[in-house]
Amino acid sequence: MTQDIAISSASDLPAAGSTTASRKVFIKTYGCQMNVYDSGRMTDALAAEGYVATEEMEEADLVLLNTCHIREKAAEKVYSALGRLRETKKARAAEGREFMIGVAGCVAQAEGEEISRREPAVDVVIGPQTYHRLPQALKRARTGERVVDTEYALEDKFEHLPDPKKAKAGPRNVTAFLTVQEGCDKFCTFCVVPYTRGSEVSRPLAQIVGEAEKLVATGVRELTLLGQNVNAWHGVDAAGQELGLGDLLYRLAEIPGLARLRYTTSHPRDMDDRLIEAHRDLRMLMPYLHLPVQSGSDRILKAMNRRHKAAEYIALIERIRAARPDIALSGDFIVGFPGETDEDFEATLELVRKIGYAQAYSFKYSTRPGTPGADLPDQVPEDVKTERLARLQELLLQQQHEFARSLIGETIDLLLEKPGRLPGQLIGRSPWLQSVNVDAKSSQIGDIINVRITAAGPNSLFAEVAES
Ligand code: SAH
Ligand code: SF4
Ligand code: F3S
Repeated sequence: MTQDIAISSASDLPAAGSTTASRKVFIKTYGCQMNVYDSGRMTDALAAEGYVATEEMEEADLVLLNTCHIREKAAEKVYSALGRLRETKKARAAEGREFMIGVAGCVAQAEGEEISRREPAVDVVIGPQTYHRLPQALKRARTGERVVDTEYALEDKFEHLPDPKKAKAGPRNVTAFLTVQEGCDKFCTFCVVPYTRGSEVSRPLAQIVGEAEKLVATGVRELTLLGQNVNAWHGVDAAGQELGLGDLLYRLAEIPGLARLRYTTSHPRDMDDRLIEAHRDLRMLMPYLHLPVQSGSDRILKAMNRRHKAAEYIALIERIRAARPDIALSGDFIVGFPGETDEDFEATLELVRKIGYAQAYSFKYSTRPGTPGADLPDQVPEDVKTERLARLQELLLQQQHEFARSLIGETIDLLLEKPGRLPGQLIGRSPWLQSVNVDAKSSQIGDIINVRITAAGPNSLFAEVAES
Protein backbone atom coordinates (compact mmCIF):
# COMPACT_ATOMS: atom_id res chain seq x y z
CA MET A 1 0.00 0.00 0.00
CA THR A 2 1.14 3.56 -0.56
CA GLN A 3 -0.03 5.33 2.56
CA ASP A 4 1.52 8.59 3.55
CA ILE A 5 2.03 9.53 -0.05
CA ALA A 6 -0.37 12.28 -0.97
CA ILE A 7 -1.51 11.28 -4.39
CA SER A 8 -2.28 14.38 -6.33
CA SER A 9 -5.57 12.85 -7.00
CA ALA A 10 -7.31 14.83 -9.64
CA SER A 11 -4.83 13.57 -12.19
CA ASP A 12 -5.76 10.00 -11.26
CA LEU A 13 -9.45 10.64 -11.55
CA PRO A 14 -11.82 10.24 -14.38
CA ALA A 15 -12.94 13.65 -15.55
CA ALA A 16 -16.64 13.95 -15.91
CA GLY A 17 -17.16 13.97 -19.64
CA SER A 18 -18.42 17.10 -21.35
CA THR A 19 -21.49 18.06 -19.36
CA THR A 20 -22.62 21.66 -19.29
CA ALA A 21 -21.69 21.72 -15.61
CA SER A 22 -21.15 24.98 -13.85
CA ARG A 23 -19.28 23.61 -10.84
CA LYS A 24 -15.83 22.11 -10.48
CA VAL A 25 -14.47 19.72 -7.88
CA PHE A 26 -10.85 19.17 -6.89
CA ILE A 27 -10.21 16.00 -4.90
CA LYS A 28 -6.98 15.50 -3.02
CA THR A 29 -6.38 11.87 -2.17
CA TYR A 30 -4.24 10.68 0.72
CA GLY A 31 -3.61 7.12 1.87
CA CYS A 32 -4.11 3.78 0.19
CA GLN A 33 -5.41 2.58 -3.18
CA MET A 34 -8.86 2.17 -1.64
CA ASN A 35 -8.98 5.94 -1.23
CA VAL A 36 -7.88 6.39 -4.85
CA TYR A 37 -10.77 4.16 -5.93
CA ASP A 38 -13.18 6.00 -3.61
CA SER A 39 -12.09 9.38 -5.02
CA GLY A 40 -12.98 8.10 -8.48
CA ARG A 41 -16.41 6.98 -7.29
CA MET A 42 -17.03 10.29 -5.50
CA THR A 43 -16.24 12.02 -8.79
CA ASP A 44 -18.83 9.78 -10.48
CA ALA A 45 -21.41 10.62 -7.79
CA LEU A 46 -20.72 14.35 -8.18
CA ALA A 47 -20.72 14.17 -11.98
CA ALA A 48 -24.35 13.11 -11.78
CA GLU A 49 -24.94 16.46 -10.03
CA GLY A 50 -23.15 18.40 -12.73
CA TYR A 51 -19.71 18.67 -11.16
CA VAL A 52 -16.66 18.37 -13.39
CA ALA A 53 -13.32 17.18 -11.98
CA THR A 54 -10.51 19.70 -12.19
CA GLU A 55 -6.80 19.32 -11.61
CA GLU A 56 -6.47 23.00 -10.66
CA MET A 57 -7.42 23.76 -7.09
CA GLU A 58 -7.66 27.46 -7.99
CA GLU A 59 -10.64 26.90 -10.27
CA ALA A 60 -12.54 24.54 -7.92
CA ASP A 61 -15.89 25.40 -6.32
CA LEU A 62 -15.57 22.34 -4.09
CA VAL A 63 -12.41 20.91 -2.58
CA LEU A 64 -12.66 17.44 -1.11
CA LEU A 65 -9.89 15.97 1.00
CA ASN A 66 -10.05 12.18 0.93
CA THR A 67 -8.06 11.46 4.06
CA CYS A 68 -5.99 8.75 5.75
CA HIS A 69 -5.75 8.05 9.47
CA ILE A 70 -3.21 5.24 9.44
CA ARG A 71 -0.33 7.15 11.06
CA GLU A 72 -0.28 10.37 13.04
CA LYS A 73 1.55 12.27 10.29
CA ALA A 74 -1.04 11.28 7.71
CA ALA A 75 -3.89 12.58 9.89
CA GLU A 76 -2.11 15.83 10.80
CA LYS A 77 -1.60 16.72 7.14
CA VAL A 78 -5.34 17.13 6.85
CA TYR A 79 -5.52 19.92 9.41
CA SER A 80 -2.69 21.88 7.83
CA ALA A 81 -4.39 21.56 4.44
CA LEU A 82 -7.68 22.72 5.98
CA GLY A 83 -5.98 25.81 7.42
CA ARG A 84 -4.93 26.83 3.90
CA LEU A 85 -8.38 26.10 2.48
CA ARG A 86 -9.98 28.33 5.14
CA GLU A 87 -7.99 31.27 3.73
CA THR A 88 -9.10 30.47 0.18
CA LYS A 89 -12.69 30.32 1.37
CA LYS A 90 -12.38 33.78 2.92
CA ALA A 91 -10.93 35.21 -0.28
CA ARG A 92 -13.72 33.61 -2.34
CA ALA A 93 -16.40 34.93 0.01
CA ALA A 94 -15.02 38.44 -0.55
CA GLU A 95 -15.50 37.88 -4.31
CA GLY A 96 -19.00 36.52 -3.70
CA ARG A 97 -18.05 33.09 -5.11
CA GLU A 98 -19.06 29.73 -3.67
CA PHE A 99 -16.26 27.66 -2.21
CA MET A 100 -17.11 24.53 -0.29
CA ILE A 101 -14.81 22.28 1.72
CA GLY A 102 -15.46 18.59 2.29
CA VAL A 103 -13.53 16.04 4.34
CA ALA A 104 -14.00 12.40 3.36
CA GLY A 105 -12.15 9.16 4.12
CA CYS A 106 -10.70 7.68 7.26
CA VAL A 107 -10.01 10.86 9.25
CA ALA A 108 -13.63 11.86 8.59
CA GLN A 109 -14.78 8.50 9.94
CA ALA A 110 -12.47 8.57 12.96
CA GLU A 111 -12.93 12.18 14.00
CA GLY A 112 -16.38 13.14 12.69
CA GLU A 113 -17.76 16.20 14.53
CA GLU A 114 -14.30 17.03 15.89
CA ILE A 115 -13.23 18.14 12.41
CA SER A 116 -15.99 20.77 12.14
CA ARG A 117 -15.17 21.89 15.68
CA ARG A 118 -11.45 22.27 14.96
CA GLU A 119 -12.04 23.81 11.55
CA PRO A 120 -15.45 25.51 11.23
CA ALA A 121 -14.80 26.38 7.57
CA VAL A 122 -15.49 22.72 6.73
CA ASP A 123 -18.95 22.33 5.14
CA VAL A 124 -19.24 18.56 4.91
CA VAL A 125 -17.66 15.62 6.74
CA ILE A 126 -18.51 12.34 5.05
CA GLY A 127 -17.37 8.80 5.89
CA PRO A 128 -16.13 6.05 3.55
CA GLN A 129 -19.45 4.19 3.79
CA THR A 130 -21.72 7.16 3.02
CA TYR A 131 -20.09 9.03 0.18
CA HIS A 132 -22.89 8.09 -2.21
CA ARG A 133 -24.87 10.65 -0.18
CA LEU A 134 -22.40 13.42 -0.99
CA PRO A 135 -24.74 15.29 -3.37
CA GLN A 136 -27.47 15.50 -0.68
CA ALA A 137 -24.91 16.49 1.94
CA LEU A 138 -23.74 19.38 -0.27
CA LYS A 139 -27.31 20.54 -0.81
CA ARG A 140 -27.89 20.58 2.94
CA ALA A 141 -24.60 22.41 3.49
CA ARG A 142 -25.68 25.13 1.04
CA THR A 143 -28.53 25.96 3.39
CA GLY A 144 -25.93 26.73 6.07
CA GLU A 145 -25.99 23.35 7.85
CA ARG A 146 -22.65 21.82 8.95
CA VAL A 147 -23.13 18.24 7.72
CA VAL A 148 -21.43 15.28 9.41
CA ASP A 149 -22.46 11.96 7.87
CA THR A 150 -20.31 9.11 9.17
CA GLU A 151 -22.95 6.52 10.03
CA TYR A 152 -22.42 3.05 8.65
CA ALA A 153 -25.16 3.28 6.03
CA LEU A 154 -27.73 0.50 5.98
CA GLU A 155 -28.00 0.66 2.22
CA ASP A 156 -25.17 -0.58 0.00
CA LYS A 157 -23.33 2.49 -1.35
CA PHE A 158 -22.31 0.61 -4.49
CA GLU A 159 -25.99 0.17 -5.42
CA HIS A 160 -26.43 3.94 -5.13
CA LEU A 161 -23.46 5.07 -7.18
CA PRO A 162 -23.62 5.75 -10.90
CA ASP A 163 -21.57 3.49 -13.20
CA PRO A 164 -17.86 4.27 -13.38
CA LYS A 165 -17.35 6.92 -16.02
CA LYS A 166 -15.17 6.50 -19.01
CA ALA A 167 -12.12 8.65 -18.43
CA LYS A 168 -11.06 11.27 -20.94
CA ALA A 169 -9.51 9.58 -23.96
CA GLY A 170 -6.02 8.68 -22.85
CA PRO A 171 -3.81 6.57 -20.74
CA ARG A 172 -5.90 6.37 -17.59
CA ASN A 173 -8.20 3.82 -19.22
CA VAL A 174 -5.59 1.12 -19.25
CA THR A 175 -5.49 0.14 -15.57
CA ALA A 176 -8.18 0.42 -12.92
CA PHE A 177 -8.86 -0.38 -9.29
CA LEU A 178 -11.98 -2.28 -8.28
CA THR A 179 -12.95 -2.53 -4.62
CA VAL A 180 -14.25 -6.02 -3.85
CA GLN A 181 -14.01 -6.03 -0.07
CA GLU A 182 -13.94 -3.39 2.63
CA GLY A 183 -13.18 -3.25 6.31
CA CYS A 184 -11.24 -5.55 8.55
CA ASP A 185 -11.94 -7.95 11.42
CA LYS A 186 -8.32 -8.75 12.20
CA PHE A 187 -7.68 -6.08 14.84
CA CYS A 188 -3.92 -5.92 14.67
CA THR A 189 -3.08 -3.98 17.82
CA PHE A 190 -1.37 -1.10 15.98
CA CYS A 191 -4.04 -0.46 13.36
CA VAL A 192 -6.98 1.96 13.02
CA VAL A 193 -8.52 0.32 9.95
CA PRO A 194 -11.07 -1.88 11.81
CA TYR A 195 -12.32 1.35 13.44
CA THR A 196 -12.27 3.63 10.38
CA ARG A 197 -13.51 1.13 7.81
CA GLY A 198 -15.64 -1.09 10.02
CA SER A 199 -15.97 -4.84 9.89
CA GLU A 200 -15.27 -6.98 6.84
CA VAL A 201 -17.84 -6.74 4.05
CA SER A 202 -17.53 -8.46 0.66
CA ARG A 203 -19.29 -7.12 -2.42
CA PRO A 204 -21.44 -9.72 -4.16
CA LEU A 205 -19.99 -11.65 -7.11
CA ALA A 206 -22.45 -10.35 -9.70
CA GLN A 207 -21.86 -6.72 -8.69
CA ILE A 208 -18.09 -7.14 -9.03
CA VAL A 209 -18.29 -8.98 -12.36
CA GLY A 210 -20.69 -6.30 -13.66
CA GLU A 211 -18.35 -3.47 -12.68
CA ALA A 212 -15.33 -5.31 -14.10
CA GLU A 213 -17.11 -5.81 -17.44
CA LYS A 214 -18.04 -2.13 -17.59
CA LEU A 215 -14.45 -1.10 -16.87
CA VAL A 216 -13.13 -3.43 -19.56
CA ALA A 217 -15.67 -1.97 -21.99
CA THR A 218 -14.12 1.48 -21.35
CA GLY A 219 -10.70 0.15 -22.39
CA VAL A 220 -9.26 -1.14 -19.11
CA ARG A 221 -6.75 -3.98 -19.67
CA GLU A 222 -5.51 -4.51 -16.12
CA LEU A 223 -7.67 -4.68 -13.00
CA THR A 224 -6.42 -4.52 -9.44
CA LEU A 225 -8.93 -5.88 -6.95
CA LEU A 226 -8.85 -3.92 -3.73
CA GLY A 227 -9.71 -4.61 -0.13
CA GLN A 228 -8.23 -3.79 3.27
CA ASN A 229 -8.10 -7.56 3.53
CA VAL A 230 -8.78 -8.49 -0.04
CA ASN A 231 -8.08 -12.20 0.34
CA ALA A 232 -10.79 -12.45 3.00
CA TRP A 233 -13.27 -11.81 0.16
CA HIS A 234 -16.03 -14.40 0.11
CA GLY A 235 -19.23 -14.81 -1.82
CA VAL A 236 -21.63 -17.32 -3.33
CA ASP A 237 -22.27 -18.27 -6.93
CA ALA A 238 -25.67 -18.64 -8.60
CA ALA A 239 -25.87 -22.25 -7.35
CA GLY A 240 -25.28 -21.16 -3.76
CA GLN A 241 -21.72 -22.50 -3.71
CA GLU A 242 -19.34 -20.67 -1.30
CA LEU A 243 -16.56 -18.80 -3.09
CA GLY A 244 -13.25 -17.25 -2.07
CA LEU A 245 -10.91 -14.76 -3.76
CA GLY A 246 -9.28 -17.55 -5.80
CA ASP A 247 -12.68 -18.41 -7.31
CA LEU A 248 -13.38 -14.75 -8.01
CA LEU A 249 -10.09 -14.47 -9.91
CA TYR A 250 -10.90 -17.54 -12.05
CA ARG A 251 -14.28 -15.94 -12.85
CA LEU A 252 -12.83 -12.53 -13.75
CA ALA A 253 -10.15 -14.18 -15.90
CA GLU A 254 -12.97 -15.19 -18.28
CA ILE A 255 -13.83 -11.59 -19.20
CA PRO A 256 -12.90 -11.08 -22.87
CA GLY A 257 -10.44 -8.21 -23.37
CA LEU A 258 -9.14 -8.23 -19.82
CA ALA A 259 -5.41 -9.01 -19.92
CA ARG A 260 -4.09 -8.72 -16.38
CA LEU A 261 -5.31 -9.20 -12.81
CA ARG A 262 -3.82 -8.16 -9.50
CA TYR A 263 -5.13 -7.86 -5.96
CA THR A 264 -4.05 -6.04 -2.82
CA THR A 265 -3.73 -6.05 0.25
CA SER A 266 -3.65 -9.54 1.65
CA HIS A 267 -3.25 -11.05 5.08
CA PRO A 268 -1.06 -14.18 5.39
CA ARG A 269 -3.81 -15.98 7.32
CA ASP A 270 -6.21 -15.73 4.38
CA MET A 271 -3.91 -17.13 1.65
CA ASP A 272 -5.90 -20.31 1.06
CA ASP A 273 -5.14 -23.23 -1.29
CA ARG A 274 -7.54 -22.09 -3.98
CA LEU A 275 -5.88 -18.69 -4.15
CA ILE A 276 -2.46 -20.32 -4.47
CA GLU A 277 -3.91 -22.52 -7.25
CA ALA A 278 -5.06 -19.37 -9.03
CA HIS A 279 -1.44 -18.16 -8.98
CA ARG A 280 -0.41 -21.51 -10.47
CA ASP A 281 -3.09 -21.64 -13.19
CA LEU A 282 -3.88 -18.11 -14.27
CA ARG A 283 -1.20 -16.59 -16.48
CA MET A 284 -3.07 -13.29 -16.39
CA LEU A 285 -2.79 -13.15 -12.59
CA MET A 286 0.41 -11.15 -12.34
CA PRO A 287 3.32 -12.84 -10.55
CA TYR A 288 3.54 -10.17 -7.88
CA LEU A 289 2.12 -10.43 -4.39
CA HIS A 290 1.92 -7.82 -1.64
CA LEU A 291 1.84 -9.88 1.53
CA PRO A 292 2.68 -7.82 4.61
CA VAL A 293 4.34 -9.52 7.56
CA GLN A 294 5.13 -6.43 9.71
CA SER A 295 7.80 -8.14 11.84
CA GLY A 296 10.03 -11.21 11.84
CA SER A 297 9.86 -11.73 15.61
CA ASP A 298 7.30 -14.19 16.96
CA ARG A 299 7.07 -12.23 20.21
CA ILE A 300 6.22 -9.02 18.36
CA LEU A 301 3.90 -10.78 15.90
CA LYS A 302 1.97 -12.06 18.91
CA ALA A 303 1.85 -8.63 20.54
CA MET A 304 0.63 -7.23 17.21
CA ASN A 305 -2.12 -9.89 17.13
CA ARG A 306 -1.03 -11.03 13.66
CA ARG A 307 -1.92 -14.62 14.63
CA HIS A 308 0.88 -16.38 12.80
CA LYS A 309 4.54 -17.06 13.40
CA ALA A 310 7.49 -15.96 11.25
CA ALA A 311 8.22 -19.56 10.20
CA GLU A 312 4.60 -20.00 9.04
CA TYR A 313 4.93 -16.92 6.83
CA ILE A 314 8.17 -18.24 5.34
CA ALA A 315 6.58 -21.67 4.71
CA LEU A 316 3.60 -19.98 3.05
CA ILE A 317 5.87 -18.01 0.72
CA GLU A 318 7.66 -21.26 -0.17
CA ARG A 319 4.32 -22.83 -1.16
CA ILE A 320 3.37 -19.80 -3.23
CA ARG A 321 6.78 -19.80 -4.94
CA ALA A 322 6.44 -23.50 -5.69
CA ALA A 323 3.10 -22.78 -7.41
CA ARG A 324 4.36 -19.73 -9.33
CA PRO A 325 8.17 -19.68 -9.47
CA ASP A 326 8.44 -16.22 -11.07
CA ILE A 327 6.39 -14.55 -8.33
CA ALA A 328 7.96 -11.50 -6.69
CA LEU A 329 7.11 -10.44 -3.16
CA SER A 330 6.27 -7.12 -1.66
CA GLY A 331 5.62 -6.40 2.01
CA ASP A 332 4.90 -3.92 4.79
CA PHE A 333 7.02 -3.61 7.93
CA ILE A 334 6.68 -1.72 11.18
CA VAL A 335 9.74 -1.00 13.30
CA GLY A 336 9.62 0.07 16.93
CA PHE A 337 6.37 -1.58 17.96
CA PRO A 338 6.14 -1.33 21.80
CA GLY A 339 8.52 -3.79 23.45
CA GLU A 340 10.60 -4.41 20.28
CA THR A 341 14.17 -5.23 21.37
CA ASP A 342 17.33 -5.25 19.26
CA GLU A 343 16.92 -9.01 19.06
CA ASP A 344 13.34 -8.72 17.76
CA PHE A 345 14.50 -6.21 15.16
CA GLU A 346 17.34 -8.52 14.09
CA ALA A 347 14.70 -11.23 13.53
CA THR A 348 12.93 -8.88 11.12
CA LEU A 349 16.17 -8.30 9.19
CA GLU A 350 16.72 -12.05 9.13
CA LEU A 351 13.26 -12.69 7.71
CA VAL A 352 13.81 -10.06 5.02
CA ARG A 353 17.12 -11.73 4.06
CA LYS A 354 15.38 -15.11 3.84
CA ILE A 355 12.46 -13.94 1.71
CA GLY A 356 14.11 -11.43 -0.62
CA TYR A 357 11.59 -8.72 -1.47
CA ALA A 358 11.22 -7.06 -4.84
CA GLN A 359 9.66 -4.04 -3.17
CA ALA A 360 8.44 -3.05 0.30
CA TYR A 361 6.99 -0.33 2.50
CA SER A 362 8.37 0.20 5.97
CA PHE A 363 7.25 2.52 8.72
CA LYS A 364 8.10 3.62 12.23
CA TYR A 365 5.38 2.54 14.61
CA SER A 366 2.95 5.42 15.13
CA THR A 367 0.84 5.36 18.27
CA ARG A 368 -2.84 5.53 17.33
CA PRO A 369 -5.24 6.55 20.09
CA GLY A 370 -7.96 3.98 20.65
CA THR A 371 -5.88 1.01 19.44
CA PRO A 372 -4.59 -1.53 21.99
CA GLY A 373 -0.96 -0.78 21.02
CA ALA A 374 -1.31 2.76 22.37
CA ASP A 375 -1.69 1.46 25.94
CA LEU A 376 1.25 -0.96 25.85
CA PRO A 377 4.27 -0.32 28.08
CA ASP A 378 7.81 -0.08 26.66
CA GLN A 379 7.12 2.35 23.83
CA VAL A 380 10.33 2.51 21.78
CA PRO A 381 12.21 5.85 21.76
CA GLU A 382 12.03 7.84 18.53
CA ASP A 383 15.79 7.76 17.87
CA VAL A 384 15.82 3.95 18.13
CA LYS A 385 12.93 3.73 15.65
CA THR A 386 14.75 6.09 13.27
CA GLU A 387 17.92 4.04 13.39
CA ARG A 388 16.10 0.73 12.87
CA LEU A 389 14.05 2.09 10.00
CA ALA A 390 17.19 3.31 8.25
CA ARG A 391 18.83 -0.12 8.58
CA LEU A 392 15.74 -1.96 7.37
CA GLN A 393 15.22 0.39 4.44
CA GLU A 394 18.84 0.02 3.37
CA LEU A 395 18.39 -3.75 3.18
CA LEU A 396 15.02 -3.52 1.42
CA LEU A 397 16.33 -1.02 -1.11
CA GLN A 398 19.31 -3.22 -1.82
CA GLN A 399 16.95 -6.15 -2.51
CA GLN A 400 14.74 -3.96 -4.70
CA HIS A 401 17.73 -2.93 -6.83
CA GLU A 402 19.00 -6.50 -7.00
CA PHE A 403 15.62 -7.65 -8.26
CA ALA A 404 15.48 -4.88 -10.87
CA ARG A 405 19.03 -5.63 -12.04
CA SER A 406 18.23 -9.34 -12.32
CA LEU A 407 15.82 -8.44 -15.13
CA ILE A 408 18.46 -6.81 -17.35
CA GLY A 409 18.71 -8.83 -20.56
CA GLU A 410 15.37 -10.57 -19.93
CA THR A 411 12.42 -10.37 -22.32
CA ILE A 412 9.20 -9.51 -20.53
CA ASP A 413 5.59 -8.52 -21.22
CA LEU A 414 4.89 -4.84 -20.95
CA LEU A 415 1.47 -3.21 -20.71
CA LEU A 416 1.83 0.21 -22.36
CA GLU A 417 0.14 2.72 -20.11
CA LYS A 418 0.95 6.35 -20.84
CA PRO A 419 3.24 8.75 -22.65
CA GLY A 420 6.78 8.96 -21.30
CA ARG A 421 8.77 12.09 -20.56
CA LEU A 422 10.49 12.18 -23.94
CA PRO A 423 8.68 12.33 -27.28
CA GLY A 424 8.34 8.89 -28.84
CA GLN A 425 8.63 7.24 -25.45
CA LEU A 426 5.93 5.37 -23.52
CA ILE A 427 5.78 4.13 -19.95
CA GLY A 428 4.54 0.64 -19.33
CA ARG A 429 4.07 -1.68 -16.35
CA SER A 430 6.09 -4.83 -15.94
CA PRO A 431 4.35 -7.91 -14.51
CA TRP A 432 6.08 -6.91 -11.23
CA LEU A 433 4.55 -3.44 -11.17
CA GLN A 434 7.72 -1.60 -12.17
CA SER A 435 7.58 1.40 -14.53
CA VAL A 436 9.40 0.63 -17.76
CA ASN A 437 10.43 3.25 -20.38
CA VAL A 438 10.40 2.14 -24.00
CA ASP A 439 10.29 3.77 -27.44
CA ALA A 440 6.81 3.14 -28.86
CA LYS A 441 3.94 4.97 -30.56
CA SER A 442 1.15 6.50 -28.49
CA SER A 443 -1.36 4.54 -30.60
CA GLN A 444 0.04 1.46 -28.85
CA ILE A 445 -1.20 2.55 -25.39
CA GLY A 446 -3.22 -0.37 -24.01
CA ASP A 447 -1.19 -2.95 -25.95
CA ILE A 448 0.94 -5.60 -24.32
CA ILE A 449 4.27 -5.97 -26.09
CA ASN A 450 7.46 -7.98 -25.65
CA VAL A 451 10.42 -5.92 -24.56
CA ARG A 452 13.98 -6.62 -23.56
CA ILE A 453 15.15 -4.88 -20.39
CA THR A 454 18.32 -2.90 -21.12
CA ALA A 455 18.95 -0.97 -17.90
CA ALA A 456 17.63 -0.52 -14.38
CA GLY A 457 17.49 2.92 -12.74
CA PRO A 458 16.62 3.56 -9.09
CA ASN A 459 12.87 3.83 -9.74
CA SER A 460 12.28 2.51 -13.23
CA LEU A 461 13.54 0.21 -15.93
CA PHE A 462 14.51 0.88 -19.54
CA ALA A 463 13.73 -1.46 -22.41
CA GLU A 464 13.80 -1.91 -26.16
CA VAL A 465 11.13 -3.58 -28.23
CA ALA A 466 12.03 -7.26 -28.62
CA GLU A 467 11.75 -9.10 -31.94
CA SER A 468 8.69 -11.29 -31.72
N1 SAH B 1 -4.61 -4.54 5.57
C1 SAH B 1 -3.28 -4.44 5.28
C2 SAH B 1 -2.64 -3.07 5.47
C3 SAH B 1 -3.33 -1.99 6.19
S1 SAH B 1 -2.49 -0.55 6.62
C4 SAH B 1 -2.52 -5.48 6.08
O1 SAH B 1 -3.04 -6.09 6.95
O2 SAH B 1 -1.37 -5.66 5.81
C5 SAH B 1 -1.05 -0.55 5.65
C6 SAH B 1 0.20 -0.64 6.40
O3 SAH B 1 0.39 0.48 7.24
C7 SAH B 1 0.27 -1.83 7.34
O4 SAH B 1 0.58 -3.00 6.68
C8 SAH B 1 1.32 -1.40 8.32
O5 SAH B 1 2.61 -1.79 7.90
C9 SAH B 1 1.22 0.11 8.33
N2 SAH B 1 0.62 0.60 9.57
C10 SAH B 1 -0.64 0.40 10.01
N3 SAH B 1 -0.80 0.97 11.23
C11 SAH B 1 0.38 1.54 11.55
C12 SAH B 1 0.85 2.26 12.68
N4 SAH B 1 0.07 2.49 13.74
N5 SAH B 1 2.14 2.70 12.68
C13 SAH B 1 2.95 2.45 11.62
N6 SAH B 1 2.55 1.78 10.52
C14 SAH B 1 1.29 1.31 10.49
FE1 SF4 C 1 -5.00 -3.25 9.92
FE2 SF4 C 1 -4.31 -5.70 10.57
FE3 SF4 C 1 -6.63 -5.26 9.40
FE4 SF4 C 1 -4.40 -4.99 8.02
S1 SF4 C 1 -5.18 -6.88 8.92
S2 SF4 C 1 -6.12 -3.59 8.05
S3 SF4 C 1 -3.00 -4.18 9.52
S4 SF4 C 1 -6.05 -4.57 11.42
FE1 F3S D 1 -5.44 5.17 5.36
FE2 F3S D 1 -7.94 4.50 5.54
FE3 F3S D 1 -6.46 3.46 3.65
S1 F3S D 1 -6.58 4.84 7.22
S2 F3S D 1 -4.46 3.39 4.62
S3 F3S D 1 -7.00 5.57 3.85
S4 F3S D 1 -8.06 2.44 4.78
